[in-house]
Amino acid sequence: MATDGLKRDAASAAVDRFVEDGATLGLGSGTTSAFVVGRIGEKLAAGELRNVRGVPTSESTAALAREAGITLVGLAEARPTLTLDGADEIGPRLANIKGLGGALLREKIVAAASRDGLVLVADGSKAVDTLGARGPLPVEVEPFGWETTFEALSSLGCTPRLRMDATDPGRPFVTDGGHYTADCAFGPIEDPPGLEAAIKAIPGALECGLFVGLARAAVIADRDGVRVVEG
Ligand code: A5P
Repeated sequence: MATDGLKRDAASAAVDRFVEDGATLGLGSGTTSAFVVGRIGEKLAAGELRNVRGVPTSESTAALAREAGITLVGLAEARPTLTLDGADEIGPRLANIKGLGGALLREKIVAAASRDGLVLVADGSKAVDTLGARGPLPVEVEPFGWETTFEALSSLGCTPRLRMDATDPGRPFVTDGGHYTADCAFGPIEDPPGLEAAIKAIPGALECGLFVGLARAAVIADRDGVRVVEG
């Protein structure tokens, strides 16, 4: 089955298992999260769910949620009971990497504010034995002085690359919050909490895509079906 079909299967299973009437949900960003929002919209339209509110982690997710009939709220008004979000890599003990979609800072703020934590939703290609072996670790960076922030990131043993805008490759990609993204090729990350702490100690590195201790479960779909991994 194509990856999109697996993402859709995981999203449907996650919504069916974890979303209840009256929930306030953190809504992640990216293609899998779009399927989550779509499934919630289907169930609201069919009367199978009622009174679901959402805290969106990006402008694109906010637009999808509005279309799906989900009432949007901010963190000033409510705290999510649970956040549903995609991931780029899911490793041991549900530590994971996020941010290739460009929304990691808001995603981490919303996940950390969620009473029952984060439920990851993914196709099976995202499951890995060691984080970082497959792709870069995204780091959201303050534009002021980004060059010195990149030097400090390099000193931790990676090659940071400034992410460029997909539609205008001559300009840096800018997040909804007005920040740049450094895609940092570290290779295999043996100590995710230690690396997260080291990156966060750099002035200008606002947040990194290592999510450690935030996920309580992962709903993963592959050709054999959907499985739920509890943290
Ligand atoms: C967005 O910033 C990301 O964290 C996404 O959740 C992650 O990149 C997964 O994206 P897909 O669901 O599009 O694979």
